[in-house]
Amino acid sequence: MIRFVISVVLALTILAFFSFGIFAQEEEFQYVGMKNCKMCHTSKKSGESYKIWQESAHATAYQTLANEQSQKIAAEMGIEDPQKDEKCLKCHVTGYGEPASKYGKDYSMEEGVTCEACHGPGSEYKSMKIMKQIYAGEVEGSKYGLVEPDAALCKTCHNEESPTFKGFDYEKFVAQIAHPVPSGK
Ligand code: HEC
Ligand code: HEC
Ligand code: HEC
Ligand code: HEC
Repeated sequence: MIRFVISVVLALTILAFFSFGIFAQEEEFQYVGMKNCKMCHTSKKSGESYKIWQESAHATAYQTLANEQSQKIAAEMGIEDPQKDEKCLKCHVTGYGEPASKYGKDYSMEEGVTCEACHGPGSEYKSMKIMKQIYAGEVEGSKYGLVEPDAALCKTCHNEESPTFKGFDYEKFVAQIAHPVPSGK
């Protein structure tokens, strides 16, 4: 009997250890903010993804919530300040509503829909070594928090819940934000 109790306790301890381990790992990936992508993704050789993003609507998604059109939509919906309301922020900023531990010190809501909104929180994959290994296919990006963006990801924001929704055609929209590395894989 004592032996049985000991093995049950042991099994539970091991189980708790592992589930906590998995949990802790997920928590490790933090949003690091634009400056931590910009430093390496600005050159022509890298595909100028920073510049392309900066000129896209995603970069001003938070500022949009302060314009006249947003004020009007908000008034109709009984929302006081769109820049403070979950009903707007959930799609106009990166990682809205996630646990506080997910936001690194350089994260700012004001940066709108950033690289990390599509590619995942970058704290672990942003090192030169890991980035090169992922790009070369030597390691699995997902192990470091890198997400492979697809149509389903876009549609978490580009859907009918958007008060200004005008449809979403993946091929057309993805071409509008394209930022390939010119040398290719
Ligand atoms: C220290 C430099 C560095 C930083 C910082 C960095 N990257 Fe990279 N990244 C690279 C390099 C180098 C590559 C390989 C492609 C190339 O040569 O441009 C790459 C490749 C990528 C890829 C392609 C991965 C694949 O699946 O093949 C994505 C997506 C990416 N970076 C996103 C980001 C994001 C988002 C950030 C900010 C959170 C970031 N990077 C920060 C250097 C960096
Ligand atoms: C976190 C939410 C979010 C995700 C994820 C997202 N978008 Fe967006 N997207 C927005 C918002 C918000 C706007 C409007 C910003 C504004 O006008 O201020 C926008 C605007 C755009 C625009 C400009 C549309 C126009 O009519 O001006 C394109 C193109 C676009 N997104 C493509 C994509 C693609 C392709 C994906 C997936 C690879 C994607 N988006 C993922 C939130 C998102
Ligand atoms: C479900 C995600 C989602 C929510 C919630 C959301 N938006 Fe948006 N918003 C988008 C996307 C995606 C776009 C890009 C164009 C489109 O498809 O509507 C956008 C575009 C806009 C635009 C620019 C429209 C244009 O024609 O250029 C304004 C203004 C706007 N949103 C205001 C708001 C306000 C105010 C709220 C809160 C009441 C809100 N949005 C809530 C996803 C969302
Ligand atoms: C709206 C979503 C979205 C945003 C914002 C975004 N990306 Fe991407 N990114 C994509 C998609 C979609 C692809 C193409 C994935 C594929 O080819 O399967 C991609 C591909 C890439 C690639 C690989 C290109 C190649 O040729 O292999 C790099 C590097 C990259 N992104 C970096 C960035 C950086 C850095 C930022 C911010 C400055 C950024 N992305 C912002 C959606 C986004």
